[in-house]
Amino acid sequence: MRLEEERLVDPLKKDEDLELRPKFLSEYIGQKEIKENIGIYIKAAKLRSESLDHILLYGPPGLGKTTLACIIANELEVPIKITNGGVIEKSGDLAAILSSLTEGEVLFIDEIHRLPTFIEEVLYSAMEDYAIDIVIGKDETTRTIRIDLAPFTLIGATTKAGNLSSPLRDRFGVIERLDYYSNEDLKQIIKRTSKVLNSEIEEEAINNLSLRSRGTPRIANRLFKRVRDFALVLNNGLISNDICNKALERLKIDSNGLDEIDKRYLEAIIVRFNGGPVGILNIAANISEDSLTLEDVIEPYLLKEGFIKRTSKGRVALKKAYVSLNLLDNYKGQNNEND
Ligand SMILES: Nc1ncnc2c1ncn2[C@@H]1O[C@H](COP(=O)(O)OP(=O)(O)OP(=O)(O)O)[C@@H](O)[C@H]1O
Ligand SMILES: [Mg+2]
Repeated sequence: MRLEEERLVDPLKKDEDLELRPKFLSEYIGQKEIKENIGIYIKAAKLRSESLDHILLYGPPGLGKTTLACIIANELEVPIKITNGGVIEKSGDLAAILSSLTEGEVLFIDEIHRLPTFIEEVLYSAMEDYAIDIVIGKDETTRTIRIDLAPFTLIGATTKAGNLSSPLRDRFGVIERLDYYSNEDLKQIIKRTSKVLNSEIEEEAINNLSLRSRGTPRIANRLFKRVRDFALVLNNGLISNDICNKALERLKIDSNGLDEIDKRYLEAIIVRFNGGPVGILNIAANISEDSLTLEDVIEPYLLKEGFIKRTSKGRVALKKAYVSLNLLDNYKGQNNEND
C-alpha cells in the first residue's frame, strides 16, 4: 500500500462530517487547560467589548485546531473567515481579506506556516495596529497609503510551530499547544459520535476503538464510521466488540492502531537494518516511501508511543516494536537503544 492511496489512520486526510464537529466549548472534549484558558479570554473580551487577542494553535493534525477556531468565533458570536496559508499567493490577496473583516470578526489562517515571508509581513501591522500599508503608483509616483482595519482576531493554526518566523509568533497574545488525547477523552468523543450518528455501540467496543485511534479524534471518528458499516451489514447495526475486532482486522489495523505502513517501516528497521540506528533516507528507500512523509505522518505516533527513538546516528527500534511485530527473537537487548 502506497501512502497516496487511502490510509485509514492518516491523520492528515480531512474527510470529516461537519455534524461531528462540536460547536460550543462545553462540547469540546479534553484539552482541559486550553479550554479553560480560552473560555476565560472569551468571557473577558466580551465583558470589555473588545476583540479577542490573536491566538496561535499548534499541534499534530486531526486534534481539533480548526474545530476550536470555529468554536471560538461561535462563542464570541462573531463571523469567521477561513483561509489557508498555502493559497495566499500575493500580498494583495491577504490585504483584500483583511480589509473585508468586520469588527470583532475572526480570521482563521490554517497552515499559517506556509505563508511566504513577504506576505507574512502584511500581517505584522495588521495584527499590531489594525492597519495595513499599501504601495500604489509606479516609479516616481510611488507612495504608501495606510488603510485602517476593523479590530479583528487572527487565529493561526499550524502543525509545524518550528517553521513559523519569530516576528509572526511574537505577535500572538495567546499560544496554545494541542496534545494527543487520552484514552478517556477518546472514549467520550466516540460516545458523542455514536449519539450524533445515532448508532449504538457497546462499552467494550468504545474502549477497543479508543485504543486504536492514535490519540487523534479525527481517526477515532473515521474508524467509528467504518466499523459502523460492518455492524450494519453483519450485526443489525449494533457495534459490538466482536464486530469491532472483525472490522479492524479486515481493515488491517492492529491492537495498537498500527497499520500496514507502520509495520513495514518498523520491520525494515528491525530486519533489514538490525534494529538500527539507521538514517531515515535508508528506511525510505527500503520501503519505497518518501522520507518527508515518513517524518511527518508515520514517525510522530511511533515516537510518541515508544516504538522507535531518534538518535544522532538514526532511528532505533525499541522493544515495543519487536513485541508488536512478533519479532522478539531479533531483539538484542537495550544496548542499541542507548546509542
Ligand atoms: N475536542 C474534541 N471533541 C470532539 N471532537 C473533536 C475534538 N477535536 C476534534 N474533534 C473531531 O475531530 C475532527 C478533526 O478535528 P479538526 O479538523 O479540528 O483538526 P485539526 O487540528 O484542525 O486538523 P488539521 O491539522 O489536519 O487541520 C473534527 O471534525 C471533530 O469531529
Ligand atoms: Mg484543521
